[in-house]
Amino acid sequence: MTAPIVRTLAAIRSEVAGWKRAGQSVGVVPTMGALHEGHLSLVRAAKAGCDRVIVTIFVNPRQFNSPQDLADYPRTEVEDARKLAPLGVDAVYVPDPEQIYPEGFSTTVSVAGLTEVLCGAHRPGHFDGVATVVTKLFTQTRADRAYFGEKDYQQLQVVTRLSRDLDLPVEVVGCPTIREEDGLAMSSRNLLLSDRARVWAPELHRAMEEMAAGLVSGGDLTALRADAEARLLRAGFTGVDYLDLRACGDLSLLTAVDRPARLLAAAWLAGVRLIDNIAVG
Ligand code: PAF
Repeated sequence: MTAPIVRTLAAIRSEVAGWKRAGQSVGVVPTMGALHEGHLSLVRAAKAGCDRVIVTIFVNPRQFNSPQDLADYPRTEVEDARKLAPLGVDAVYVPDPEQIYPEGFSTTVSVAGLTEVLCGAHRPGHFDGVATVVTKLFTQTRADRAYFGEKDYQQLQVVTRLSRDLDLPVEVVGCPTIREEDGLAMSSRNLLLSDRARVWAPELHRAMEEMAAGLVSGGDLTALRADAEARLLRAGFTGVDYLDLRACGDLSLLTAVDRPARLLAAAWLAGVRLIDNIAVG
């Protein structure tokens, strides 16, 4: 059975109101479409934890830094609906842009601190766009739980923080990164990789695993980072935006693994910006 597609705020509100009246819990999986196994794992987690599940598909213009990146972002609505069909989703909310940003919309949700580093430092305004649309999707769907992948680890921290700070009645649930067999983290942007670049792409995860192992055995962060960057450049990557060791949760910069830590990276391969992160220690 194909999942019912809902395109207006009024329609999703009326659907959710019926579920809430019946005392049912609602889970939401916010996405920008081009669904892959990572998204589907979030849907399965939502199905296991909630009575009703909404998947949202909205390519949010406010979180893109360049018009070209927005234009290039993969859009595969028919294929997405086909992938969701067997999962028993209760609604696929595919809002038209004016349902999210009506005429005169003038509010921005901005999370300080967490958004000033890593991707935030390289993509100005990106997390304001994410925080604003996620807040809207939470309030529009009245979700009790919302599911996000750890693949976008910084995004997960930002969304968790905003929902706490604004007392939103939604529990943010983080789910593990799903990887291809060769270790590449699943991402909608992988569709933009050429066949050649796709062969090189897993080197990012391999370089990070090697660096993490070096850190755990007491290696020097600066030397290990230089080795990892050199390895990536040899493998065909054209630049590394960051390759940082950071504290879980508050993302403060670390120089050694002296508390729960994550290694986070963003690197460019054939014009595509790949991000990944792994736990260290
Ligand atoms: O992770 C994404 O796909 C997007 O950033 C999100 C959370 C759906 C907001 O547009």
